[in-house]
Amino acid sequence: MRTLRDVKGLRSVVAGWKRAGQSVGVVPTMGALHEGHLSLVAAAKAGTDRVIATVFVNPMQFNNAEDLAKYPRTEDRDAAMLMEAGVDLLFAPAPEVVYPDGFATTVGVSGLSTDLEGTFRPGHFDGVATVVTKLLMMTGADRAYFGEKDWQQLQIVRRLVRDLNIPATITGCATRREADGLAMSSRNLRLSAEERAVAPALHNAMAAAAAAIRGGAPVPAALATARDAVVAAGFAEVEYLELREAEGLAPLDRLDRPARLLAAAWLGPVRLIDNIAVAP
Ligand code: PAF
Repeated sequence: MRTLRDVKGLRSVVAGWKRAGQSVGVVPTMGALHEGHLSLVAAAKAGTDRVIATVFVNPMQFNNAEDLAKYPRTEDRDAAMLMEAGVDLLFAPAPEVVYPDGFATTVGVSGLSTDLEGTFRPGHFDGVATVVTKLLMMTGADRAYFGEKDWQQLQIVRRLVRDLNIPATITGCATRREADGLAMSSRNLRLSAEERAVAPALHNAMAAAAAAIRGGAPVPAALATARDAVVAAGFAEVEYLELREAEGLAPLDRLDRPARLLAAAWLGPVRLIDNIAVAP
C-alpha cells in the first residue's frame, strides 16, 4: 500500500490505473478506524479493481473546536489496518493541501443540511459536502463507499453527486454493530466503561420504537417512550429521536412509506447518533 499526501501524486497513480482499464473505489474516512470502516473497504474491494482510502480529519465539518481537538488521531494504526485489508493507496493529506491559502468555496446542499444533525451542528454538512466533493474530484474515483450509520450524510452525498453531475456512484453500506447493538463509531473510544455499558440503550430504545410503530402504535407516543427510555438508562439528553421519510427525510407521523428512525443523544461527553430502517 502506498501512502500519498499530495494531489498531483494521487492523480498520477489513478491516471495509470485508469489507463490500464481499472475501476477505482474510494472509502473516505476521518481515521480512528474500526470494523465499520473495514466493511466499507471490503465492499470497495468487491466492487472495484483498485481501492483508495482517505484519512483526513476535516476541520471544516467541526462546529466545535474542542470536538476537533479531541477527535482521535491514530494514523499509524489506521495505515496498518488498511494495508492488512488490502487497500492499494492511502491518501492522507495535510489540512493545507485540502484547504490551501485563499480557499473560498463551500458546497452546500440546501434543505437536507439544516435539519436533524444540521440543527444541532450548524455548518457541519457544508463542511462534509465540501470535503466529499473535493475528495471525489481529487481521487477521480468511479465509486465511493459510505456507512449508513451517517444516514443523513449519505443522503446529502447522494444529492450533491447527482446535482453536480460528479461521475461517481455512491454505495451505502449497512451499519456495523457491536454484539450488544451499539453502532460502531470512532467516538465510542471516548466512552468510559460505565458509559459504554449504558450506550446500547439508544439502539435498544430505537428498535423497540420501530417494532411498536410497525405494530401500529401511534408514532408520537412510540417516540416519546423511546426518548424517556434513553434518558432513564443514563443518557444526559436526547437531541432528537424522530421518524423521517427514508430518503427526503421529511417528518412522518404515520408509517405510510419507507422510513428511518434517526436519533442523536449525549452520553457523558460523547454525542452518539444512530438510525434504523422502519418499513411499513
Ligand atoms: O463520515 C465521515 O467519516 C466523514 O464525514 C467523511 C465522509 C469522511 C467526510 O469527512
